[in-house]
Amino acid sequence: MKFQKVWVCFFSATGTTRKIAETMARRLAQQGGVPFGAVDFTTPAHRQTPPAFSEGDLVVVGTPVYAGRVPNLILPFVAAIQGNGAMAVPLVVYGNRAYDDALMELRNTLEAGGFRTVAGAAFIGEHSFGRALAAGRPDESDLAMATRFAGQVFSKVEGIENFDNHSPVFVRGNNPVGPYFRPTGPQGQAIDIRKVKPQTAETCNRCLWCVQHCPMGAIDPEDPRQTPGICIKCNACVKGCPQQAKAFDDPNYLFHKDDITARYSAPRKEPECFL
Ligand SMILES: Cc1cc2nc3c(=O)[nH]c(=O)nc-3n(C[C@H](O)[C@H](O)[C@H](O)COP(=O)(O)O)c2cc1C
Ligand code: SF4
Ligand code: SF4
Repeated sequence: MKFQKVWVCFFSATGTTRKIAETMARRLAQQGGVPFGAVDFTTPAHRQTPPAFSEGDLVVVGTPVYAGRVPNLILPFVAAIQGNGAMAVPLVVYGNRAYDDALMELRNTLEAGGFRTVAGAAFIGEHSFGRALAAGRPDESDLAMATRFAGQVFSKVEGIENFDNHSPVFVRGNNPVGPYFRPTGPQGQAIDIRKVKPQTAETCNRCLWCVQHCPMGAIDPEDPRQTPGICIKCNACVKGCPQQAKAFDDPNYLFHKDDITARYSAPRKEPECFL
């Protein structure tokens, strides 16, 4: 099956999903000798109008895994992207705990939106909550795997004659998808960190970097120390603030962060690719 353009289309608050998805898409464009385009829907400004693709497009669609699923507040936007017969490669990126049903959910959502999924993958990226869990991922080995996988996708697509008997690419996960992963506290009890927001130190110099990069538009542009909107704990502001002025101090959140770091740092998980 010929394609005329390769796209990368992604949500990536701290950049790991972007790195892997772009590596794959650029390699596919290079192999096919076709142009490359990018749709970054990380910030609200870029989620005004869902993109529409067409037959002849091959689109790597990437999201991180939040609570074992596609981030729930981003899912409606992903569902509104119009495939119009384009081929898609769903990609999820997770922080070395598990991707649970996220890849299945992304695959199903893209198929329902008019894409034909031809391959899929789950890769590993540094966990949003800190610097220790899945530190340095994606690393050289992950990106080499992304490049190799792109080559395999290219060969598979070349061999597709038509979509008369198309079925969605096989991926691992429950179908229908299961419940969201629930964080637990010191006694193993379920904890609810949905309302937790980052605090801001006096060192904030109001540069507004965090306001411009918050995927939820949650930070007050008049006073970036305040977060009146919904916070998804993506940590873009914490990791990106040039003054390192943002941090979480909620005890339940901090317990959960240390707990998953202790439980899931080893063994190192490796990318899983489906063709
Ligand atoms: C709210 C939230 C929930 C997360 N849930 C999971 C999870 O269930 N399993 C996992 O391994 N990583 C989880 N992560 C980590 C991210 O999937 C991982 O760090 C990813 O690389 C972030 O992608 P980004 O850099 O593109 O934002 C979670 C991160 C956040 C912010
Ligand atoms: S990025 Fe940091 S220094 Fe800049 S406004 Fe936000 S908190 Fe303040
Ligand atoms: S305020 Fe919350 S949602 Fe916004 S960038 Fe910071 S951690 Fe992410």
